[in-house]
Amino acid sequence: MSPTSFAYRNPTHRLVFGRGALDRIAEELSAAALRKPMLVCSARGAASDAARMIIQALRIGHDAVFSGVRSHAPLASVNEAWKQARALQPDCLIALGGGSAADTVKGIALAFAEEGRVLDFVLARGADGQLKGRPTITPKLPIVAVPTTVSGAEVSPSFGLTDDSGRKLIIRHDSLAPSILVYDPDLLRSVPLATLAPSVMNALAHNVEALYSKGRNPISDVYACASLPLLNDGLSTALADPADDDAYSSLTLGAYYAAVAIFNARTGLHHAICHKLAPAAGLSHGIANSIILPRALEFNLPAARPELTRVAQLMCKGPAAAGELRAEHAIEQLEQLSARAGLPRRLREVGVRREIFPTLAEKIMSEPGLAFNPRQLRTAREVEEVLEAAW
Ligand SMILES: [Fe+2]
Repeated sequence: MSPTSFAYRNPTHRLVFGRGALDRIAEELSAAALRKPMLVCSARGAASDAARMIIQALRIGHDAVFSGVRSHAPLASVNEAWKQARALQPDCLIALGGGSAADTVKGIALAFAEEGRVLDFVLARGADGQLKGRPTITPKLPIVAVPTTVSGAEVSPSFGLTDDSGRKLIIRHDSLAPSILVYDPDLLRSVPLATLAPSVMNALAHNVEALYSKGRNPISDVYACASLPLLNDGLSTALADPADDDAYSSLTLGAYYAAVAIFNARTGLHHAICHKLAPAAGLSHGIANSIILPRALEFNLPAARPELTRVAQLMCKGPAAAGELRAEHAIEQLEQLSARAGLPRRLREVGVRREIFPTLAEKIMSEPGLAFNPRQLRTAREVEEVLEAAW
């Protein structure tokens, strides 16, 4: 991409990275004059060593731990946590966990600032087709994020909650992005590879989509290109030797770069499908990513050949890397990585019924990300064909 004119948004946060970074959490909160945190995590997260360390280091009482984070961040969890926060009156929120913890905590910060009126700020499509929402100008509780997966959700000011009917509610406001990020690669080591690998496929998808997105710019390209080899090598190494510490450092940094890349470039068809498919089919975002990514890339191939060739050059090793690499090799490499990780390859393997495709495809057509996709989608039938190819 040759530099012409573009606008770039720099994410604003303090980042603390490295093995043992979690040991510095008390120091970080103290430097930011934060004294009364509320810890937000899942029930499993609350029983983890990381939670015990945080609770001990910050002297957090039982009433300041919300352990009700669930997959896809249900609005009901946010409301429950908001009631707890109202009673506690914390001066900051700590999200320990993956994407659902990060999204839940952003919801809690919004609910706390706006007296529970989260639904007032859900984005809706305007007459011009763009998603718009009411601005929220009330000061928010600062958020400290301690990620235990590589979703990158902690970088983004946008998040998705799910209502009782499974509908995804998208909210985006800069004031809801976490302000302190604590990246400790040792936290990834405790995550089973069966959970970590799909999360890495999601992070890889962030880079691929950032590179071919119509919203990309030269700086988002730099982040995506730096991230791809880190994630590829990190996952390959962790699969070969789960005790290799360097693998988790590569994955952690690679996931951060990927998140910064999509912070600007946004995502396209692949994520549009995953956003609607995962909650509708009861899949995690990562599993939906690992199954859909090769099929979405096949669809985009005619419109993104140079970008996907670049992905192949950054990911493929061995003799073929000498100059024979084509865009198709990127798809092959991603499929091989997913196969080596033992991830499901087909929607039928994870119990998805084909009957949902026509309705699902219609819903996917309303996803805002399609505006950034390199190949224009004209009909829902085209989305259905991608879903069929993944079935
Ligand atoms: Fe994603």
